[in-house]
Amino acid sequence: METFALPKGFLLGTATSSLQIEGGDRNNTWYRWVQTGHIKDGTTSFVAADHWNRVAEDIALMQQLHLQTYRMSLEWSRIEPEQGQFDNDALQHYRKEIEMLLAAGIRPLVTLHYFTNPLWAEDAGGWLNPEAADWFERYTTHVVENLGDLVSDWCPINAPNVCLAQGYLVGGWPPNDVRLTRYLRAARTMIEGHIRAYRKIHQVRAAAGYQDTAVGTALHLRPFDPKHGTGHERRAAAVYDRLFHEVFVSGLCEGRLLQPLGSGYPLGEGRYCDFFGVNYYTRDIVNCADSPAGPLGRREVRDGARTNDVGWEIYPEGLYRVCRKYWDRYHIPVFITENGTADAADHFRSDFIYEHLWQVHQLIEDGVDVQRYYHWSLLDGFEWLEGLSAKFGLVAVDPSTLERTVRTSGWFYGDIARSGEVTSKMLRQYFG
Ligand code: BGC
Repeated sequence: METFALPKGFLLGTATSSLQIEGGDRNNTWYRWVQTGHIKDGTTSFVAADHWNRVAEDIALMQQLHLQTYRMSLEWSRIEPEQGQFDNDALQHYRKEIEMLLAAGIRPLVTLHYFTNPLWAEDAGGWLNPEAADWFERYTTHVVENLGDLVSDWCPINAPNVCLAQGYLVGGWPPNDVRLTRYLRAARTMIEGHIRAYRKIHQVRAAAGYQDTAVGTALHLRPFDPKHGTGHERRAAAVYDRLFHEVFVSGLCEGRLLQPLGSGYPLGEGRYCDFFGVNYYTRDIVNCADSPAGPLGRREVRDGARTNDVGWEIYPEGLYRVCRKYWDRYHIPVFITENGTADAADHFRSDFIYEHLWQVHQLIEDGVDVQRYYHWSLLDGFEWLEGLSAKFGLVAVDPSTLERTVRTSGWFYGDIARSGEVTSKMLRQYFG
């Protein structure tokens, strides 16, 4: 293992989402969904890590780990529990949380939509309803008018590709309505929601005199690699890439609809991302040869791969590949908005961190302007269909006592955040 340093000014932090850590909210799609028998371990998001009641404690942990930035999400259903009615207490709770972060020297990056819809929106069709873009713009406006003096950095919608693929293509997530036409329709509305939020955030903050606004994506990107390299598999991989990545990348970044989403620039051609945010975890191998699953084959894990607790391949080079590809296309600053692994025993998370930050270092050496890295996640939380059993936290959370314990990998990450480098002393200390 080699030592390396990240450039001055590079920011290291962690990312979380409201539903996964806050607990308490009863007004969103997942509150309903966890009661329908879909969660593998039968747990719920009702308490999660109880972050809503432990904000001060959790910010103190971030400080202990020397983190410089924090990507958090706001729960739309708390802020707008009924259509058009805003809850000032919820907004003030978030305002206080952000003030505490700033007082701790931690720069917030705020996500406005993270996989959950308020029930009133879901019951009106969710993102299949073209009005969802209006609802989302109104919510965004309200939030930015109230928090825009504290927050310059925004991600309107987290991983629209994951949210919609799980809801409309693969299934298993709400609304679990598997139809390609629905996936495409909801994708058009989410892209419109992003573009309108992008413009609104800039407009509201500019009118208040702020010039440092940065609005970007947080897209989940994963290479799709053909197993045998046949023409059939390469074509299948290209279909996955287009449906899962390309239609969103060009929609969110350029305002351009690619087939089969549509064509042209319905909201005008532009650059609707000030940074390119990447959520990176793993890759998929596309296997058409041994698969009865139709022309697109099957997505699987590479034979013999190193995997994490939930069976995902650990593939650090993939982070390099996805960042490089879109840097070469757009030349806008890259933020790693999520990267992490499930490792309850903390056996390989330190290696994971080292290997992925090494790729970040390589990207920077090769001229890619990577500016931030957010480790997923600060805390063990509610991992969607996996429930509470998948442990992604730098900090372990005991589900019964809610007690927090920093894992060894958390201290390792904290040391990197403090010094901006991996030194030989750290290699000896953490890798023996
Ligand atoms: C999601 C996170 C989730 C993580 C691990 C990501 O794709 O954005 O919410 O916790 O995967 O499951």
